[in-house]
Amino acid sequence: MVADWYEGVSLSSEWQPATEAAGASYRLFVTNRGPAPLAGFRIGFSGPARVSDNAALVGGSVVARLSNYCEIAPAAGFVLAPGATWAIEIKALDYPIRHWTDGAVTGFLILADGSTGALRTEPTRLAGSDAVRRKGTMHFPVPEHPPVPVSVIPWPRHVAVSGRRTVPPGLAIGGTSPLAEAAADAFALLTARLFPGEGIVRPAHQGGYRVDLVSGTGGGEAYAIDFAPDHATVTAATEAGFLYGLVTLGQILRGARLHLRQFSFPTAGRIEDAPRMGWRGCHLDVARRFYGRDEVEHFLAILAWNKLNVLHWHLSDDEAWRVEIDAYPQLTGRAAWSGHGLTLPPLLGAGPERSGGYYTRQDVRAVVALAARFGIDVVPEIDMPGHCYALLAALPALRDPGENGLYHSIQSFPNNCLNPGVETVYGAVETILGEMLELFPSRYFHVGADEVPEDAWQTSPVARALGERLGVSGAAALQAHFLRRLQAFLTANGRVTGAWEEASHGGGIDRDNCYLVGWRSAATSRELAAAGYSVVVAPGEAYYLDMANSADWHECGAAWAGFSSPEATYRFEPTAGWSAVEEQHLRGVQACIWSEPMTDRAVFDRLVFPRLSAIAETGWSRDRDYARFAALAGLMPNLYGQREPAGGH
Ligand code: ACM
Repeated sequence: MVADWYEGVSLSSEWQPATEAAGASYRLFVTNRGPAPLAGFRIGFSGPARVSDNAALVGGSVVARLSNYCEIAPAAGFVLAPGATWAIEIKALDYPIRHWTDGAVTGFLILADGSTGALRTEPTRLAGSDAVRRKGTMHFPVPEHPPVPVSVIPWPRHVAVSGRRTVPPGLAIGGTSPLAEAAADAFALLTARLFPGEGIVRPAHQGGYRVDLVSGTGGGEAYAIDFAPDHATVTAATEAGFLYGLVTLGQILRGARLHLRQFSFPTAGRIEDAPRMGWRGCHLDVARRFYGRDEVEHFLAILAWNKLNVLHWHLSDDEAWRVEIDAYPQLTGRAAWSGHGLTLPPLLGAGPERSGGYYTRQDVRAVVALAARFGIDVVPEIDMPGHCYALLAALPALRDPGENGLYHSIQSFPNNCLNPGVETVYGAVETILGEMLELFPSRYFHVGADEVPEDAWQTSPVARALGERLGVSGAAALQAHFLRRLQAFLTANGRVTGAWEEASHGGGIDRDNCYLVGWRSAATSRELAAAGYSVVVAPGEAYYLDMANSADWHECGAAWAGFSSPEATYRFEPTAGWSAVEEQHLRGVQACIWSEPMTDRAVFDRLVFPRLSAIAETGWSRDRDYARFAALAGLMPNLYGQREPAGGH
């Protein structure tokens, strides 16, 4: 086999935190272990961390940069001899690196002729430390004596069961109403997906234990289970209620089967259950990293197993556009992909090869339909007017040609906001939303609204003219005007507008027909409620599942909102200190999965699980108990099957 020309060249990096004597420094090392000298090249690399605008470099110079993507060239005439290392020191990043997933994730060589070669790239080291990098879901062993006899997460409202029978090999589910049959089918699909080969649903002639689904009063997502020695009866009034009753039974069965001594399968008694909150959501960012339809569908099954009922699907951001729009094929043609020389460079650890992806209309329909079977509402988000770098790269005609200055988002994307003063923006957005409303039957449509830079549109003549006409100034007021027009469009189409909390700024959107997600802190959710907005609580410090599990370097994840152990996430009380009036504005809770640090799938499994279940239990259960949760959490599924070794690291 002929070796690629770059074979043997590697990239490693090291972070030296600031000391009393010196500022922080970030060092990159390109080592040539190949047989030939390397000349006329530069490197491109990216990971979550960003090289600052004003970074001082030793050993090279920045020749291109977009957000976290950076190209660095050595001095003219530099030759990297076999066996030699090119060291580059960078004196300033936009924020200090705190975890091993922060630094350069991928790097590649770029030759003068434009050809590229991916480098073997080591995760960033902390200077002076060789701690093991943690990934894979944290180990939660089932204790010898769990505090409860049955394994259920989220814990039901009322559990009074007794007895212990030989664990049935599976459940033979029967029901006569169409609702019951639909729920039984959905449960069979769910368990086959999550636990293939376990045979949780099986007919009576294969030893299935009889489960009767019986229509009863109650409503919404409520259900009851009555146990007898040879069968159980699930009573519910809706398909979701039946499904949740079956999920509870399935969890009891799995717990008892996998941990025979610790848990039992009851023979008598009753479980009565209904959720504390109506909105039990999970946000998934598929823009920063693309997840294929099958991954999303598998994730839906995990949400259902946690009795979560909303998928907030973050389909666009600065880095990418992920949904097919017939009217604008450029969106997925250009903005769903990144790579060297493409409209979007390899951000957040993507490689030089073209990578990315999008969901076709058929994919979306399939995801939405499966979600419905699992009791999950799919709320799409198109993030506007900020976080639109990819959209604007695909549709540059939506910019104000007269805008002649630069502003940057917090993630360092230049001029990344749809301009409220450009009238054609509204037509384009309504066309896009119009197509999406056909694909998404949800009552809700989320329009973003987060993180518009304060200095956005300052040099845009049409934005200034709009401000003068409205008698307002500043980005927040212009954004509020933009969002109110979107809200009016959505309301006219029978939808409720969702947005991040900044939609309350600058005069805000109409409180009727909207909900806002409080994300910047626990306090802001309460402020939104106090201001009369319907609130979904999702504070970064507790519910952002991209934040690391602890402050340790060897944990993966981000740190800008802090860190949160599973216990801290579990113990977070969304309405602590709220008045009774404020509590009336609580719609629910939501986990937020942002994908910047999800450099590999084992990182996803560590960051998301079991904290997702901790939030699910907060949304569902009135009675919370961390010791009980910790005893049961190890039974919950993760997405990729990546778990840390027993005993941890
Ligand atoms: C957000 O985290 N920017 C909503």
